[in-house]
Amino acid sequence: MAGNWKMYKTAAETTAFFVKFAPLVEKSEHADVVICPTFVNLPAAVAAVQGTRIEIGGQNLYWKNEGAFTGEISGPMLKAVGAQWVIVGHSERRQYFGETDATVLQRTLAALAAGLKPIVCVGERLEERESGNTESVLKTQFDGGLAGLSPEQFAQVAIAYEPVWAIGTGKTATPEMAAGAHRFIRELVAAKFGTEQAAKTRILYGGSVKPDNVRSLMAQPDIDGALVGGASLEAVSFSSIVNF
Ligand code: 13P
Repeated sequence: MAGNWKMYKTAAETTAFFVKFAPLVEKSEHADVVICPTFVNLPAAVAAVQGTRIEIGGQNLYWKNEGAFTGEISGPMLKAVGAQWVIVGHSERRQYFGETDATVLQRTLAALAAGLKPIVCVGERLEERESGNTESVLKTQFDGGLAGLSPEQFAQVAIAYEPVWAIGTGKTATPEMAAGAHRFIRELVAAKFGTEQAAKTRILYGGSVKPDNVRSLMAQPDIDGALVGGASLEAVSFSSIVNF
């Protein structure tokens, strides 16, 4: 169960969140609990989760370890600050910052090389769903962003299915819609990496997950977790999602 904080919260707000949130998920052993704050708040978040079972992730990374790349952050830097996870290929990165399937693959490889567990995002836009192209979009994203990994590398990856039209809109995919996409993604994994790996791969759903819809989403056999934006910003709300 992962929270993507996007461009929200100061360091003080980050610390205040964890003071309230940590006790609420202390016993949530059914799930890995991950929060991905902004880069500048990673140190505050890592300090705040010491001694808890909450893990911290970045929201992006660049694929070089260091160099003249103004404004970028590398995998080894995330690792050194105490992050264990990193989101790769979020639709907002694809939409506003030129992310492509090819750069998703480069970032995923860099994350793995740095010892980070990538949460790789895929998902169709509204017009792609409405024109009946959801599966071909997912296949293209999988083939370009993930199929180039070795089986050992892929074993470290979690996939997040985030239909773009459901992000921040309050429009959740129906559990059946999400389940269909998740099943299809698992079939892609099975075809490339085998059924055993497919059964083990964690596929998270993201897009307007809230305390009142998480249960029906998580009831779908192919939905293994959630990547939560807005509802992860508040401790009671995100803890009720984690503890659905
Ligand atoms: P919302 O939960 O705010 O729709 O955001 C989903 C998301 O983009 C998580 O990465």
